[in-house]
Amino acid sequence: MKIYQVKDYQEMSLKTAEIIAAQVILKPDSLLGLATGSTPLGAYQLLVKWCQEGLLDFSKVTTINLDEYQGLPETSDQSYVYFMRKHLFDHINIDRNRTFLPDGMEPDREKACRDYNELLKTLGKTDLQLLGLGHNGHIGFNEPGSYFEKETHCVKLSERTRSANRRFFSSEEEVPHYAFTMGIQNIMNAHHILLAVSGEAKAEMVKEAFFGPITPAVPASVLQLHDHFTLVADEAALSKCEKESLAMEE
Ligand code: F6R
Repeated sequence: MKIYQVKDYQEMSLKTAEIIAAQVILKPDSLLGLATGSTPLGAYQLLVKWCQEGLLDFSKVTTINLDEYQGLPETSDQSYVYFMRKHLFDHINIDRNRTFLPDGMEPDREKACRDYNELLKTLGKTDLQLLGLGHNGHIGFNEPGSYFEKETHCVKLSERTRSANRRFFSSEEEVPHYAFTMGIQNIMNAHHILLAVSGEAKAEMVKEAFFGPITPAVPASVLQLHDHFTLVADEAALSKCEKESLAMEE
């Protein structure tokens, strides 16, 4: 594990965007695994800016997202496909036909997962997989207790995750109960995994996930086993970690 200790959300976004940009510059036809949520927003803004300034070229890039809610159409401003278009795809020179998310509107849950999993296999190993960290240690929508061996599957969202995401919906009832997500096995298959995290609210989880035992009770802890895992975390997120353990990972 390589840790970049940064000051705050802004610096976390800059470092995250720099690592993604470096990947795209070094391999213009990269396969990028992307995430939604509050964490990557600042990084996406920077990627948009650099692309619009002509510093970055996404024309040969392919993207696969981690997850999608079940039952929200792509016109819903809460669907992840809408999020990705609004915050990234609509503003960069990427070929829309090479941007993939699970099909949240497929009524047959098994088929939706099977199709996405087959797609992942066809596309091959992800070059760089971006992740955020859930308050309960989830990655993608792999909730505590998820088997590390799982591939793409449909999950019933925990109440903690539903209430964490409640802020984006106008009422509690609108928050979906199910989502399709890449499994931990798909995530671990990437050449390089980059997890960005910011803020004190996640400090306890950062300590548990990256300096505690590797256990399905804390899905992100599996990342300790990956041979190319980079953590970009700000001071607040690292505030509960021992200085000595951090120094060893720098
Ligand atoms: C999003 C995703 C989730 C988030 C996590 C953190 O595609 O897969 O695992 O990364 O819930 O969310 P934020 O960044 O909103 O704190």
